[in-house]
Amino acid sequence: MNQAPNDSPDTITIRQPDDWHVHLRDGDMLQAVAAFTARQFARAIVMPNLSPPVTDTASAAAYRDRILEVLEPESRFTPLMTCYLTDTADADEMAKGFESGVFTAAKLYPANATTNSAHGVTDIANIMPVLERMQELGMPLLVHGEVTSSDVDIFDREAAFIDQVLIKLVDRLPELKVVFEHITTADAAAFVDGAGPNIAATITPQHLHINRNAMFQGGLRPHAYCLPVAKRERHRLALRKAATSGSAKYFLGTDSAPHEMHAKESACGCAGIFNAPFALESYASVFDEEGALDKLEGFASVNGPNFYGLPLNEGTVTLERVNIIVPDQIEAGAAKLVPFHAGEELGWRIAG
Ligand code: DOR
Ligand code: ZN
Repeated sequence: MNQAPNDSPDTITIRQPDDWHVHLRDGDMLQAVAAFTARQFARAIVMPNLSPPVTDTASAAAYRDRILEVLEPESRFTPLMTCYLTDTADADEMAKGFESGVFTAAKLYPANATTNSAHGVTDIANIMPVLERMQELGMPLLVHGEVTSSDVDIFDREAAFIDQVLIKLVDRLPELKVVFEHITTADAAAFVDGAGPNIAATITPQHLHINRNAMFQGGLRPHAYCLPVAKRERHRLALRKAATSGSAKYFLGTDSAPHEMHAKESACGCAGIFNAPFALESYASVFDEEGALDKLEGFASVNGPNFYGLPLNEGTVTLERVNIIVPDQIEAGAAKLVPFHAGEELGWRIAG
């Protein structure tokens, strides 16, 4: 890990943050993980890749109720729901969901790009009428930006998506609000920097901390595997620069994606890193190492709501420079989960 500069403060108080990209799952797993996100964040954009996926207003409203049901009654957490786009998505249903306040955004998964994306979009041309309506409505499109063809190297799939899909999309719908989710490359940061103010990106803690070596350190490391997969060191450094730059285009999205330990530690391990328990501490350590703690609030608590056109949170959270050891495992209900940074030390903790 990088060294913190000597002159950085020992406590920092920021406006309460939000998580602009999280997987809360359903059923027992939802019960096990929701509180970790609700404890740190006031709001979160909840991914719709359930099985079956959340593709209409009624199922999103029902899912929102299930999330609220598993939280403590005093929790003030607000889940912000998303619609999973399929080839047959309907513009009127999208408008109904957005205008009634159920949908905050819609999520584009290229078909078979990742977990539960089999019902995703096979060709963006199929959803053009929906995207045109979203542009009119000012409804954000959240993009899993990877091409899926097996002849493109997995480490090149994000860069190929920019060239093959994103540039054309932004050209065709120049006013559409787009969040390029969980970016992993210098190419993605350059694209976002060069685009208009309606194009933004989320960045996960893992892509700020690890490069692709982490998956192979002394053997296969399934808990470092997520999609898009971590890239070379030069990409990690470009992401750290983007996140800590102060640019309003970048904001916090953990992509916390829990899978049970046995499903990760398997001959065909699931993609996803469960970072919710120590997400803010993980981000704080990056901003500290970069000498940019003064930029943490913008990234975590201001840029996201401003992009989405939502009010800033009123509360605050204080972080203090105290070493904590992240547990090897978290047992939540019947589930055994391995958190990001398992067994490692982090230099920040949430006060109080
Ligand atoms: O690593 C990932 N896990 N990436 C995704 O895009 C989906 C997620 C999941 O749902 O497990
Ligand atoms: Zn995700």
